[in-house]
Amino acid sequence: MRRTADVVVVGGGVIGCAVARELARRGARTIVVERGEVGAEATRAAAGMVAPQAESSGPGPLLRLGIASRERYAAWTEALAAESGVDVEYRTDGIVYAALTAADVRVLAARARWQRAAGLRVERLAHPRRHVPALGPQVRMALHFPDDHRVNNERLATALVVAARRAGVAVLERTPVAAVRARRGKVTGVDTGAGPVDAPVVVNAAGAWAGRLGLPPGVAPPPVFPVRGQIIVLRGGLEVVPRPLYSLRGYVVPRVDGRVLAGSTLEDAGYEKRVTAGAAADILAAACAMVPRLAGLTLDTAYAGLRPATPDHRPIIGAAPDLDGLVHATGHYRSGILLAPITAEAIADVVMDGRTALPVAAMRPGRFARRRRR
Ligand code: GLY
Repeated sequence: MRRTADVVVVGGGVIGCAVARELARRGARTIVVERGEVGAEATRAAAGMVAPQAESSGPGPLLRLGIASRERYAAWTEALAAESGVDVEYRTDGIVYAALTAADVRVLAARARWQRAAGLRVERLAHPRRHVPALGPQVRMALHFPDDHRVNNERLATALVVAARRAGVAVLERTPVAAVRARRGKVTGVDTGAGPVDAPVVVNAAGAWAGRLGLPPGVAPPPVFPVRGQIIVLRGGLEVVPRPLYSLRGYVVPRVDGRVLAGSTLEDAGYEKRVTAGAAADILAAACAMVPRLAGLTLDTAYAGLRPATPDHRPIIGAAPDLDGLVHATGHYRSGILLAPITAEAIADVVMDGRTALPVAAMRPGRFARRRRR
């Protein structure tokens, strides 16, 4: 069957679905083509942190983009709940960051200093155990990032796909894309396992697989590669971990249903999504060092996902420099959940208006081509 659209979005993760919903709301006939099931890859394997401050390694364009996206989250999730009927469990109770060693204390104190200098709120907790009674004796100091939030990423994926469909998006699951088609330097559509789709615009939101999209000869694939992250799920711990906790060695995040997610790893394992015994031991050791009572919880499950990483750890957002009609929305690495609302807005601006005023200049696809020529 031959289909026609204004835009084809390749990839049905949080980024692809958010982009598609936004495009449809602005009047573009949009089709999402997903080779598996929507939200089943990095989106599902995430922990759901909306935490540009806790997860930041320093000031710069990525932090600015993260903060701008975080500012959109409350209104965005409220709109998604209204459109989909799905509560995405957006919570704004902040994130506590614990230091377990003298070196950790120095790292966190420096982070608090530069973030305050940048005008961001960071509280040094005088009595961390008053905020989280279960913190263990190893915790020497803790920061609170009151403006960092969280969401249930599994429910977010469901809400997004329902909202996208209700906005008019067609979602084709279990449909691999074999190739992006082009004529005279312009995109003309994609060839899929379910037949061709004619469209003048293709958005590459294929996550860790974005560099493997079959592009026409001479068009550079985005330099995206997979970085595996493993998560261990415990059950029965809401009173033990009432809010997300970080240390420099890992994090634990509570879910409304009583699950506690402990993560994660940063591994070069290709496209393999195994959970390994060694990583599980490291993740649980880091979690229990923060909160020893976690050792008494029930082990529920474990899974792994592949973060789409780039050489500079910044996402790739914008029009491809070498093919008219190809737009990249990928490479979100550790921040796909956080950056979904602003990515959707920026990509919809680029597709509909040819440009965006949002702070994505440092995320432009062409930056790697210049680096290669040096
Ligand atoms: N943002 C959480 C992680 O990458 O593990």
